[in-house]
Amino acid sequence: MAKIKELNIALLGLGTVGKGLVNLLKENENEILNKHNAKVNIVRIFERNADKLEKFGLDRNLFTDNMQDIYDDPSVDIVVELLGRIHPSKEYIEGALNAKKNVVTANKDLICMHGNELLKIAKSNGVVLLYEASCLGAVPAINTLKNNFLGDEIKSIKGIFNGTTNYILTKMTQEGLSYADCLKEAQALGYAESDPTNDVEGIDAAYKLCILSRFAFGLDARFEDISKKGITNITPQDIHIAGRLGYTIKLLAIAKCNDQRLEMRVNPVFVSNNHQLSKINGAFNACTVEGNYSDEITLIGRGAGSHPTASAVANDIMNFAHKMGDVGQRVLKKAKMEKDGIMKYYLRMSILDKPGILSVIAKIFGDNKISIESVIQDKNENPEVKSLIIVTHSTSSVNMNKALDKISKNEAVKSVDAVLEVLG
Ligand code: HSE
Repeated sequence: MAKIKELNIALLGLGTVGKGLVNLLKENENEILNKHNAKVNIVRIFERNADKLEKFGLDRNLFTDNMQDIYDDPSVDIVVELLGRIHPSKEYIEGALNAKKNVVTANKDLICMHGNELLKIAKSNGVVLLYEASCLGAVPAINTLKNNFLGDEIKSIKGIFNGTTNYILTKMTQEGLSYADCLKEAQALGYAESDPTNDVEGIDAAYKLCILSRFAFGLDARFEDISKKGITNITPQDIHIAGRLGYTIKLLAIAKCNDQRLEMRVNPVFVSNNHQLSKINGAFNACTVEGNYSDEITLIGRGAGSHPTASAVANDIMNFAHKMGDVGQRVLKKAKMEKDGIMKYYLRMSILDKPGILSVIAKIFGDNKISIESVIQDKNENPEVKSLIIVTHSTSSVNMNKALDKISKNEAVKSVDAVLEVLG
């Protein structure tokens, strides 16, 4: 067995994402060990004061409020910057790269505006700068553009790059509410900040579009060249008319490339209800990539929040570990197959329409710890019987098989006609 690789990280910022990363590294420690034969240790935490560490159950000795401690610590392999904003994160990252530390960041504003400059500094120091979490949270948009479509010419990328505005538009669409009311709700839920300008004016989405375009087209797109229009003027009437015409209004970030010429914008769009992007609701993000041979491929997922963003940060950390070349390849163990499965069921059976039969069937389900979500009794092609349709809550497949065995032996049940899994 190869020696376990120890990776030491210095974490800058114990905010929402920082805490998510600490939790992930703790909770997934064994998974990371099994997958990569590696162990990730947090050896320094840069914060304003040490109490924050204690409040979160972390060793006070990890605390520093001086970046020089991190630059000078030879044990630190990776600096993970989760402070946000351009300054002083830019200076901290420059310092870390010049101290020959690898850097992982989730900072989209910084990468959009100064990414090229920072990448040059990383290269000249022989270290890497990774920033998957800067775009669309857990959605692996950067890695997909980097590692896939390698034989295709990418014609366009477009998508829902901001969860807050998608939440607001979804609410306006589904409940006919005004922009102002939905914004208030988004703020109450913590999606929108008290100053929501960056989200609602399309600025946040434009940062992400700028970064992703560099990977998609290999062209140096500039934030200033992206035209930006937000959602503040969208009215319930616009949304209603869109619906009548077969469209849903979405704030889309769009970049198209034709013969090295880029067309880039963020603006509200009437999206046909036949297009996948029309169906992305709530705070979800999505990115549709169109290759000239692949056609459109859409990635969908959570674009913000503690766990999803921490997932993308951890992905970069482990990617870096593989770049170092000395983490183990996953060793496959013999799989043990689970005989039981937990799922919801749709059942359709033909039953005699006689007193007491429903209670008999319900009792069999109850005896087998199966809870029923809904029941419909319907006509059947055969006039002598009725169709009984049942949707259950999540239940064990072993219990369901026992129940079905009993049900099918009941003389009032003529046949069990359909047993299907229900998702969602
Ligand atoms: N505020 C962003 C959103 C997440 O609502 O999607 C961070 O970019």
